Amino acid sequence: MVKKTNKNEGIFITFEGGEGSGKSTQIQKLKNNILGFISDVEIVISREPGGTEVAEQIREILVNGAADKLSVRTETLLMIAARAEHIDRVILPAIKRGAIVLCDRFKDSSIVYQGIANKIPNREIDKIHAFALKTCEPDLTILIDVPAEIGIKRALDRNENNQRFERKGELFHKKIRDGYLKIASLHPDRIKIIDGSQTIEKISDEIFQLVFPILRSSLSK
Ligand code: TYD
Repeated sequence: MVKKTNKNEGIFITFEGGEGSGKSTQIQKLKNNILGFISDVEIVISREPGGTEVAEQIREILVNGAADKLSVRTETLLMIAARAEHIDRVILPAIKRGAIVLCDRFKDSSIVYQGIANKIPNREIDKIHAFALKTCEPDLTILIDVPAEIGIKRALDRNENNQRFERKGELFHKKIRDGYLKIASLHPDRIKIIDGSQTIEKISDEIFQLVFPILRSSLSK
């Protein structure tokens, strides 16, 4: 059973996965499922990179343009700078108010994309995160796992302009998938893997089964 780990009043749940894994659909579904169970709770939905005015400006730099336009070190620092802004202005205030925060990507994205796929040593990312995260750790991370070729096809079919990461090629996206599975195996209590090739309904049921015990334990306090 997943236990609440952060010391704040609220609950912090992050969603991770490669491109086209269906995170944003599942976040909306989870919100509705939670509200079906407890109606008087504040639910904050956010995303990274982004979630505040300045972090969204940083996002513009990160997600637009050629795949290799930024050095890997600059990309890492910008991702985590946007995260610090998001934590200070949105996530920590919300969980201190007692809200449930559902976030599309968080620190594991940097560990996998910049760390494992782009070879920034994990200890370097940990050092930057130690400064940027403060006490902000997810209670639960849902990893929606889909084969890289399916996810990237879904993402490119969306035909959006901001596809700098989608353009990085199949090998990169295979590294992302393997990287996520590796970090999930290192943190089995926090990171739960969901098979993203199932139907939308089946995925959302499985996610709610994981979240339910945390809701119940935080209500009984
Ligand atoms: P986005 O369009 O939000 O992708 P998705 O819908 O798949 O979440 O673009 C965000 C991109 O930024 C995504 O390809 C992953 C990448 N990213 C990192 O490389 N490191 C990070 O720390 C974060 C938060 C995102």
